[in-house]
Amino acid sequence: MKRIFSGVQPTGNLHLGNYLGAIRNFVRLQEEFDCIYCVVDLHAITVAQDPAELTHNTREVTAAFLAAGIDPRKNIILNQSRNPDHAELAWIFNCIARLGWLNRMTQFKEKAGKHRENASVGLYAYPILMAADILAYKATHVPVGEDQKQHLELCRDIAQKFNHDYGREVFPITEPLIFGAATRVMSLRDGTNKMSKSDPSDYSRINMTDDRDTVALKIRKAKTDPEVLPGPDSLADGLLPPEVEATRPEAFNLLAIYAALADKDFADVLAEFEGKEFSFFKTVLTDLAVSVLGPIGGEMQRLLADPDYVDDILRDGAERARAITQPVIDEVMDVVGLLRS
Ligand code: TRP
Repeated sequence: MKRIFSGVQPTGNLHLGNYLGAIRNFVRLQEEFDCIYCVVDLHAITVAQDPAELTHNTREVTAAFLAAGIDPRKNIILNQSRNPDHAELAWIFNCIARLGWLNRMTQFKEKAGKHRENASVGLYAYPILMAADILAYKATHVPVGEDQKQHLELCRDIAQKFNHDYGREVFPITEPLIFGAATRVMSLRDGTNKMSKSDPSDYSRINMTDDRDTVALKIRKAKTDPEVLPGPDSLADGLLPPEVEATRPEAFNLLAIYAALADKDFADVLAEFEGKEFSFFKTVLTDLAVSVLGPIGGEMQRLLADPDYVDDILRDGAERARAITQPVIDEVMDVVGLLRS
């Protein structure tokens, strides 16, 4: 059986990049797979979080899953801390993973920066908890962005070493599902920077909670250039060469956003708008963005006004999640020789 697990951190300001890069794909996968989608609150606290904001952000990610169309009865939506089996399995994996493996993790190096000695132990062990998230469910497939590929490799290494050390095929070797043409959504104010939750300008991003008017306003204000729109001859072998993109980053970003929202080939979109004025293109993009994102923002607002409902979904999800992970934990404890029964 194929089982999907993926996680999103509750760190606030979910935006168009999170929607196009992750959440929209989660919605599509539910047709084909048995899916578990987790709000990874324990991962969030590897760096300092304001407690009240963490609670709010956990509900916000849940609301985004629901508003985007994930069915919480057909699938499982939970917050990580509500199923203690994740943290418990992580301890066992702490004793499987090697320091040398963690020392190679580029994300830790980036996040810890120069203040490595001052980073939390949790930030260092982050990928081990991620492996426990996945393997507690014996998930076979994990949809992730490019930036998480290395962490998934570590998950495979842990599964392999556990199976090898104990001489039992307990864990699957999980496959990443990296989505085609990674949707890299850039800032609306500066096409050379990624759209980011921490950009001080709210006009740099479209938040998933934005209503129709706000979405329209942000696209109207998005940075452009004085030329007409570029055509498909910008592409080489179907791809946009970085040096071409660098000549007009804002124009290519808006065209890529249009292509992603319309679910069209980038080349077809370039052909469609070649030689057109920005004013014309922006009207078409606004209509599309408002029709796709407006209802999601509205539904998120409605859900966030009803936290009890959201919490019920998470509680129910965690209960069903635990029914899956408990037998796995029992099996692991037995294999390792820890007396539990
Ligand atoms: N590290 C992932 C991210 O920041 C979030 C995550 C935690 C995750 N556990 C996971 C993703 C398990 C996939 C599977 O994007």
